[in-house]
Amino acid sequence: MGRALEPLVALTGAGVSAESGVPTFRGPDGLWERRRPEELANQRAFARHPLLVWRFYAWRRSLVARCSPNAAHLTLADIEDRVGDFTLITQNVDGLHGAAGNLQVIELHGSLWRLRCTRCLERWEDRRVPFPELPPRCPSCGGLARPDVVWFGESLEQRILDRAMSSAARARIMLVVGTSAVVHPAAQLPLIAKNAGAWIVEINPEETPVSAYADEVIRGPAAQVLPEWWAHNQGL
Ligand code: OAD
Repeated sequence: MGRALEPLVALTGAGVSAESGVPTFRGPDGLWERRRPEELANQRAFARHPLLVWRFYAWRRSLVARCSPNAAHLTLADIEDRVGDFTLITQNVDGLHGAAGNLQVIELHGSLWRLRCTRCLERWEDRRVPFPELPPRCPSCGGLARPDVVWFGESLEQRILDRAMSSAARARIMLVVGTSAVVHPAAQLPLIAKNAGAWIVEINPEETPVSAYADEVIRGPAAQVLPEWWAHNQGL
């Protein structure tokens, strides 16, 4: 492969996992027990109703555990294999990029498959499905565990955001796949890339704020159109 595509950066959102069966946040299946994710995925809700929030995550983990990577995830894994300078940035917490074979994934919003302590800084992997009925205790300090995901109203980890922003600023091409691009700071990444001169390719069946400045807009489901895009462009 030539170098015309490098550095290549992909930013993904829930739409990349839609065809794997993971509901998007703002789509019609995003509710759990008639509640919107925003009502449950926040610090206040966990402080007041830890078991309710825990059950919400137990449900999401069980759901995601039944899902497999789709052709869009597999294409991104192939891109990582073939493109020397490639960065994958995801807002998803489902772990499906890793399951597809991507080794270097910047997980902006954390992971469903890790827990962290609400008291100290400890983080640890926990892949049990189903989740235990009660949140476990931190192995270091005994504090209550919570999912290691970024909740509404919380800041992203600065080190991770810095990596994502500098990748965006270096990109020659940025693929923006399956994100509504309304949640900041992730939604700024395509704009940072654009302002630094990158060619922006949006893959999404619907219009988003990125559509207004994207150089190429491909309307369609990612599992179909991303492999097609890659087939046309990998020889460049
Ligand atoms: P959204 O649910 O906001 O948007 C999903 C996007 O995927 C929409 O633009 C859909 O049009 C698109 N889409 C649906 N099916 C698709 C398909 N088959 N192929 C491609 N695109 C498809 O999800 P995100 O943009 O990921 O944050 O949401 C961003 C953040 O909002 C999430 O990471 C989460 C949420 O709050 C946190 O939890 C911190």
